Amino acid sequence: SMNGYPHYMLKEIFEQPDALRNAMRGRLNDQDATAVFGGLNLTPQQLRSVERIILTGCGTSWHSALVGEYLIEELSRIPVAVEYASELRYRNPPIENNTLVFGITQSGETADTLAALNETKRKGHRSLAICNVVGSSIAQASDGGVYLHAGPEIGVASTKAFTSQCCVLAMLALFFGRMRHMSFETGGRIIEDLRRLPSSVEQALTCDSEVRRVAQKYQDVSNVLYLGRRYNFPTALEGALKLKEISYIHAEGYPAAEMKHGPIALVDAATPSIFIMPRGTTYDKVMSNMEEVKARGGPVIAIASSDDTEIRKIADDVIMIPEVPEFLQPIVSVIPLQLLSYHIAVLRGCDVDKPRNLAKSVTVE
Ligand code: F6R
Repeated sequence: SMNGYPHYMLKEIFEQPDALRNAMRGRLNDQDATAVFGGLNLTPQQLRSVERIILTGCGTSWHSALVGEYLIEELSRIPVAVEYASELRYRNPPIENNTLVFGITQSGETADTLAALNETKRKGHRSLAICNVVGSSIAQASDGGVYLHAGPEIGVASTKAFTSQCCVLAMLALFFGRMRHMSFETGGRIIEDLRRLPSSVEQALTCDSEVRRVAQKYQDVSNVLYLGRRYNFPTALEGALKLKEISYIHAEGYPAAEMKHGPIALVDAATPSIFIMPRGTTYDKVMSNMEEVKARGGPVIAIASSDDTEIRKIADDVIMIPEVPEFLQPIVSVIPLQLLSYHIAVLRGCDVDKPRNLAKSVTVE
C-alpha cells in the first residue's frame, strides 16, 4: 500500500533512510573495520587476486555503476570500467584474467544486463549481481552477489534502489580496500561515515517544501541542465534522467567543466541550470562554472551544503543538504533531485508512478 502517500514514488523517496539501514544491516564489521558479504561465493584468494572490476547495468543502475567506479577506484585502487549492459553484450571488449564483473540491477530482470552477465560468464569470468529482487533471473544467473534489501520498488522511476546501490558499492569499496592497502583507522572512519548516512538522508528529506517551491517556479520550462563534478557528476546524470522520465521535460546532465565545450550554448533565460555543488575538492571550480552561466543570463539552482551562505548571493535558488564526506555525497545530493522531478511531474499532471512509454522491468532488448 501507499501508506498515506499519494504516489509510490514519493513513498519510496521517503523510505530511503530505512532502505539504507537495511542495506547495511549485518554488513559492517567494527572488529576488522571492514564490510562483510555472505553471498559473494569467492574464496579470500580469489578476492585477493581481483585486478580489475567491470560494473554494468542500464539506466539508473548504470548511474550507480558510475558512482561505484569512483568509490572503488578511490577507496580500493582497483581499476574499474563501467559499461552499458547493452553495449557490453555485443561490443566484445577484451576482458583480462582476474576481472570481476558486477551486474547492477533493481529488478534482476533487465534483458541486456542478464545477457551481459551470461556472456562474461561464458568467457569464464566471475560474474556477480548487485540486485534488489531476491530470486530474480539475474540473481539466479550470477555466481553470487549482494542483495540491496531495499524492499519492493513499485514506482517506475528508480529512487531507493539507486541510493541503496550506491551504499552497497561504498561497502564493497571498503571491503576491497581493506583487503589491500587501506588502514584499520581509515576503514573504521568509513564505517562511522556509513552509519551516519541514514540520518543525513533523513535531514536531506526536510528540503521537500523548499523543493516544492522551486518546482512551482520552474514547472513550465522545456529544458534543464544538470551539472556536477566528481561524485556529483553521476548524480547530475541521474537528476536529468528522473526529470525526463516522469515530467517529460528535456534535461541533460554533464560534468560541470564540460559546459564550456558546447552545452553552454544552450543557456538562455528560459533554460535553468542545476548545480550540484556541496562543499568538496572541486567546489571553487564549479562555482566559476556557475558564474559563467549567470553571466549569460541563465537561471541557476544550487544544491549546496547547509552552511554555505555565500552561494545565496549568486544562485537564484538554493536547496540545502547536510554535509557528508565526498564519497557519500551522491546518496544525499540525489534526494532534492528526486523530489524536484516528482513535484514538477505532479504539477504538470503527469502519471508519476507509470510514466508513458516506460515499463518497470525492461525484459526485451
Ligand atoms: C530509471 C529507471 C530505469 C532502470 C533501468 C534498469 O528510473 O527506472 O532506467 O534503472 O531500466 O533497471 P534495473 O535496475 O531493474 O535493471
